[in-house]
Amino acid sequence: MASKRQMGSTCRVAGVLLLLVGSIAALVAVAVIQDTWRFKEYSLEFGIVIDSGSSRSNVYLYEWPGEKQNETGVVTERMNCRVAGAGISEMKVDPKKDEASWDGFRECMLNITKAIPVEKHQSTLLFLGATAGMRLLHEKDEQKSDEILESLQEYLKTLPFNFQNASIITGQEEGLYGWVTVNYLMGNLLTKTLWNIYAHPEGEKTIGSMDLGGASTQIAFAVQEDLQGPDYLHVQLYGYPYNVYTHSFLCYGKNEAGKRILDRIVKESSDPSYILNPCYPEGYNITMNASAIYDTECTTKPKDYNPDRELLMVGTSSSDKCGRLVKSIFDFKTCSSPQCSFDGVEQPPVMGDFMAYAGFFYTARALGIQGMSDVDNFYDIVKNFCQSHWTVLRGSEERKRISDQYLKTYCYSGHYVSAMLVDGYKFDKETWKNIVFQKEVKKTSIGWSLGYMLTMSNMIPSEVKEIPPLTNSVFAGLIFLFSALTIITVVFVFIFLVRACF
Ligand SMILES: *[C@@H]1O[C@H](CO)[C@@H](O)[C@H](O)[C@H]1NC(C)=O
Ligand SMILES: *[C@@H]1O[C@H](CO)[C@@H](O)[C@H](O)[C@H]1NC(C)=O
Ligand SMILES: *[C@@H]1O[C@H](CO)[C@@H](O)[C@H](O)[C@H]1NC(C)=O
Ligand SMILES: *[C@@H]1O[C@H](CO)[C@@H](O)[C@H](O)[C@H]1NC(C)=O
Ligand SMILES: *[C@@H]1O[C@H](CO)[C@@H](O)[C@H](O)[C@H]1NC(C)=O
Repeated sequence: MASKRQMGSTCRVAGVLLLLVGSIAALVAVAVIQDTWRFKEYSLEFGIVIDSGSSRSNVYLYEWPGEKQNETGVVTERMNCRVAGAGISEMKVDPKKDEASWDGFRECMLNITKAIPVEKHQSTLLFLGATAGMRLLHEKDEQKSDEILESLQEYLKTLPFNFQNASIITGQEEGLYGWVTVNYLMGNLLTKTLWNIYAHPEGEKTIGSMDLGGASTQIAFAVQEDLQGPDYLHVQLYGYPYNVYTHSFLCYGKNEAGKRILDRIVKESSDPSYILNPCYPEGYNITMNASAIYDTECTTKPKDYNPDRELLMVGTSSSDKCGRLVKSIFDFKTCSSPQCSFDGVEQPPVMGDFMAYAGFFYTARALGIQGMSDVDNFYDIVKNFCQSHWTVLRGSEERKRISDQYLKTYCYSGHYVSAMLVDGYKFDKETWKNIVFQKEVKKTSIGWSLGYMLTMSNMIPSEVKEIPPLTNSVFAGLIFLFSALTIITVVFVFIFLVRACF
């Protein structure tokens, strides 16, 4: 009789405990899968940025889960499209002459449009930002640069999107947005904690950014709070202050620097119909028009300038000579500050890791370097490349996809990258190892465009409010139900124990 009663009470205890464990398990399970549910339930949002550089335009389509707009770590690149034809600064503001450019834009925008669900078109933000090519044109011919932007604005307004702006961004903005992109993608600005709440990451680690475009180059990295000057930008991101040093060098992009180097070579040569070019490989000769070098604000035209004059360049594969010529376009001497990069521009010592992308990445890749490297190794590879015969370079399997037009440029650009980074920005044997040559992070291209969109659409507010992780009413209901069940069970157990023990 007594044992039967005891067994019965044990069963009841077991039953109640089972209910308790079950309730807690259900509670945890709901909490865990809630995030997954939410993610699927919310539709995607889209944003488009057209990056109009000096040599070409690229259209980027970004996507992120809706209602998470104010959070981070979730914007990714859905697709990008390279607009056929030259950069917009080459446009003639004549529908006939610009037909190829317009066709390029139409084709890309059509492909991008197809990738966005129709019901999302109206809410898709659209920006166009033009960089150094248009900055140069604006200096040379303001009216023309305005007309080009106006015609683009008119076209972009006809698209079904929420068009925001088509404008020339400054070199400093370009540098800062590149830095924001890199640090956003690396999760340095905000990370998701274990509890699904966004927080500022431990420590203050950010990564520097180096961009090499066609007409300009940018460096940006975070420095101590107390440094002041025109190149220091005090910014507030997610409520956290940063002091970012950034400078943009106009006419120091890969193409414009190439023209300046050719200008030196031409001016040092006595015979324009036979110019020895130490930066071109032996076995590679090319006839170019003088306009290819002088139709830019970055070089000074010779006295007897004739744009149609033909110049024959004969490659000689002279690495050392090319290296000296490349350095001659920089001014490493003038400096009225404690430390300068070049051309008298003040720059504090480089700190931390750096991401080198765009032209830096393409140059390194052509030389067979990816990711991190060693500075001596870099020099050796450049020298080896520069001393190679054209047939050797052209014959190599890994450079098969590089066209002649680009392949001929990597000797000077190898020297150019090392001169800029070592003699200019003052990377040494140790700090060079902190540079990673890369073009994408998490399948998203590195450049100014993502940082620009995030900033322009207020997706990186300077002040963050706590983002409540729970809003779903079903979820709240479930939590309530299981919590109530747990409490009731606990009360039951308590009463039961009191009864059983006393
Ligand atoms: C983002 O935050 C701002 C201000 O906190 C708010 O007005 C806006 O509606 C939010 N956007 C979304 C999509 O939740
Ligand atoms: C647009 O999409 C078509 C079909 O997918 C593709 O063949 C074409 O190359 C795309 N155009 C561009 C400029 O990427
Ligand atoms: C467009 O961009 C320019 C330059 O960034 C800015 O001055 C202007 O206010 C912007 N216009 C709009 C409507 O956002
Ligand atoms: C380039 O020019 C040099 C000197 O005139 C000549 O010997 C060589 O055959 C030329 N090479 C090519 C590929 O035209
Ligand atoms: C040089 O200019 C002429 C006339 O402007 C043009 O027809 C020719 O294609 C140009 N040559 C090169 C190599 O670009």
